[in-house]
Amino acid sequence: MSSETRRMRTNILVTGAVGQIGSELTLALRERYGADAVIASGRKTPPSEKLKASGPFEWIDCNDRQVIDDAVTKYDIHTIYHLGAILSGVAEAKPELAWNVNIDGMHNVLKVARERDCAVFVPSSIGAFGPGTPLDNTPQDTIQRPNTMYGVTKVAGELLCDYYHKRFGLDTRGLRYPGIISNETVPGGGTTDYAVDIYYQAIKQKKYTSFINAGTFLDMMYMPDCIDSAIAIMEADPAMLKHRNAFNVTAMSFDPELLAAEIRKHIPEFTIDYDVDPVRQAIAESWPNKMDDSAARAEWGWDPKWDLAAMTEDMLKVLGEKHERGLI
Ligand code: SER
Repeated sequence: MSSETRRMRTNILVTGAVGQIGSELTLALRERYGADAVIASGRKTPPSEKLKASGPFEWIDCNDRQVIDDAVTKYDIHTIYHLGAILSGVAEAKPELAWNVNIDGMHNVLKVARERDCAVFVPSSIGAFGPGTPLDNTPQDTIQRPNTMYGVTKVAGELLCDYYHKRFGLDTRGLRYPGIISNETVPGGGTTDYAVDIYYQAIKQKKYTSFINAGTFLDMMYMPDCIDSAIAIMEADPAMLKHRNAFNVTAMSFDPELLAAEIRKHIPEFTIDYDVDPVRQAIAESWPNKMDDSAARAEWGWDPKWDLAAMTEDMLKVLGEKHERGLI
């Protein structure tokens, strides 16, 4: 089935729709393709009132293949955005859970997609890199020997998605996301979460204690670019894609000091100090300082809109308003 025919078929399923990315991507997809054309799903966290009110919601635990299959059949799904996953910090604390969710759950999605001929988006991450990877200007195709459970599941996921495409012709696509910064739903248990939390604390207390050390540079991206990239890769002309899964994408690179300095331009009294978490610090040090995302730019036109200055201004404005209304 061509992607054109598939697209005419109807609906999109989002797993992990109550998570940091899912909660905003679902709304953007509904805006673009119609509220009833996008089925949100979650495993255990209840959806927010906003998400629930915006369109259909189903409970789906991706470790139960039948439940995925039932939803795909019931709603005549043509594309699955599979966002249900465990992040890096939690994955180190609960490696078995991370394997079950990130590998077995994802494999179930691929199996159902193969049977029902759905396109599948699976996000990978900067976590798919590790010791041995060149950390500056990290190439699209390079050494990937991560030493975290999160990284192991992300590399395996990239390979499994490639395999399903080559072996079974499944339309799998994906991106290696950097840390995603947003102000709607907080991320849970990731290493890059400090770069979200710092904005909340800047608004609430004008100070932040960082669990990631000064001088630790990581790739980052603001949520609007994250959403645009997820939609753009799935709408891209497949003939242009040499890499299908796991495109490096990034919008900026900074360390806690640079981020704090940017916040200080708006809140001059803001201060940062450090109480480094050795587990997440080690994870961060094994990840790229800055990825080369030229393959994404060349193959499907990746072009991020938000830099550190614009993102900081917007984050502080949005969170400042939420604080005034007593929402945070
Ligand atoms: N934001 C993720 C994490 O920190 C990286 O993909 O786990």
